[in-house]
Amino acid sequence: MAYFYNEPSRTFSEYLLLPNLTKKECIPEKVSLRTPVVRYKVGEKSSLEINLPVTSAIMQSVSDATMAIALARCGGLSFIFASQPIDKQVEMVEKVKKYKAGFVISTANLSPEHTLKDLLALKAKTGYSTVPVTEDGSAGGKLLGIVTSRDYRLSRTPLKCRLKEFMTPFDALVYGMEGISLGEANDMIWDHKLNCLPIITKDRRLAYLVFRKDYDDHKENPEMILDQDKRLVVGAGINSRDYAERVPALLEAGADVLCIDSSDGYSEWQGETLRWIKERYQDRVKVGAGNVVDKEGFTYLSDAGADFIKVGIGGGSICITREQKGIGRGQASSLIEVAKARDEYAQKTGIYVPICSDGGIVHDYHMTMALAMGANFVMLGRYFARFDESPSRKLKIGSNFVKEYWGEGSNRARNWERYDYGFDSEQKLEFEEGIDSYVPYAGKLKDNLDISISKMKSTMCNCGATSIDQLHTVAKLTLVSSTSIIEGGAHDVIQKET
Ligand code: IMP
Repeated sequence: MAYFYNEPSRTFSEYLLLPNLTKKECIPEKVSLRTPVVRYKVGEKSSLEINLPVTSAIMQSVSDATMAIALARCGGLSFIFASQPIDKQVEMVEKVKKYKAGFVISTANLSPEHTLKDLLALKAKTGYSTVPVTEDGSAGGKLLGIVTSRDYRLSRTPLKCRLKEFMTPFDALVYGMEGISLGEANDMIWDHKLNCLPIITKDRRLAYLVFRKDYDDHKENPEMILDQDKRLVVGAGINSRDYAERVPALLEAGADVLCIDSSDGYSEWQGETLRWIKERYQDRVKVGAGNVVDKEGFTYLSDAGADFIKVGIGGGSICITREQKGIGRGQASSLIEVAKARDEYAQKTGIYVPICSDGGIVHDYHMTMALAMGANFVMLGRYFARFDESPSRKLKIGSNFVKEYWGEGSNRARNWERYDYGFDSEQKLEFEEGIDSYVPYAGKLKDNLDISISKMKSTMCNCGATSIDQLHTVAKLTLVSSTSIIEGGAHDVIQKET
């Protein structure tokens, strides 16, 4: 006979946290949200930690290089989506690793043969008034000069005049050599009263532009996650099909951590993928796996060598797996069981395997709820898709701005490897497990994340915890009745229109 669970499958909204004594020293400024990402020996430290317990989903509509840069600067971690050709994913990882705060790769460049008319068109399109002139008009071409609005007079300079005739030529430019620090570049900008300093390579190719801005990036972003070489940390998704080619390419590009992206991770394909990576690279490569919803799935992937494990099936906002296939489990129930399994595993083996709660986070407090239930960090798709930094289009529908957000199991993403059962990956699945949707546009990532994080810290203080580890042990959770949910919102008043 089939196995039946006695408890129903529960979600975050069915729980509330109860306060503990808040000691005077337990204030938001004292709360550390630093958390381990990859497995470690009990009593030691994880070799990869992040400063905020948030990661962005391995999805086309969420995690590209721009998102990864913005999130790592805030202290979280992105996993660049895997449902794209290997060379494209590699390019994105490289872009994050090459990113240097304050050093901008010029996106508006022209050649000396371009005319003032071309320059004005480019200016109108990009809004940039400083345009480097390179031999071939590319971002990395030999630098021949720079044009700014001080180099021409619209009333006098003919539109067909070529840039070489009026640009500030290379010999008259002040420039820095690649390798100088942001502080040194800023000093040159101030000493020479410049607005923009080009940085060139040894063979005079344009590397970056540094603009006049008196700031210390690290002071503005104290939680920024950097590797040993002071580059931003980035993750990348992989699948259990082309890993033999994708993994070496991503590592070469500098990916710090990988994660097998699949809707159902309790499979021999994931076991094989993990074993292949660990046999080849041992502990030098960190790789997460998932998704699972119970102890069996967790133990299987941990034994196969997973460095962290993602929890959650069917709870994602764009997910229709439960409707289509009847597979999944409420996110809270999954997390509670897997967190218990992780602690037992740590006791039995001496190895602590962090877990990530993936999908279904709707309210900010759900993040804290996931941590209280035992997650070490969370993964969010919908949340990040709403921001300027997500790769999808921003549209106006009626009087509201929205951004597009589509599931990896939708026809649009065509990520069949995520739902693969070992048949020809060119073959399209017969049905979708995700939808194509809009989410309300919410502005800049940092502005929103700062608010979510301050709510998280505040709740943790209510619980009497100044670290996630502590929250795991002191949190007290209660189920809520349907009538008490009504009591939790504003009720029995006439709310004023704002
Ligand atoms: P959200 O934060 O609730 O939007 O959920 C994001 C998570 O949903 C991702 O991290 C994936 O685990 C999962 N997911 C992404 N695409 C699909 C899909 O098409 N179907 C089902 N789940 C998906």
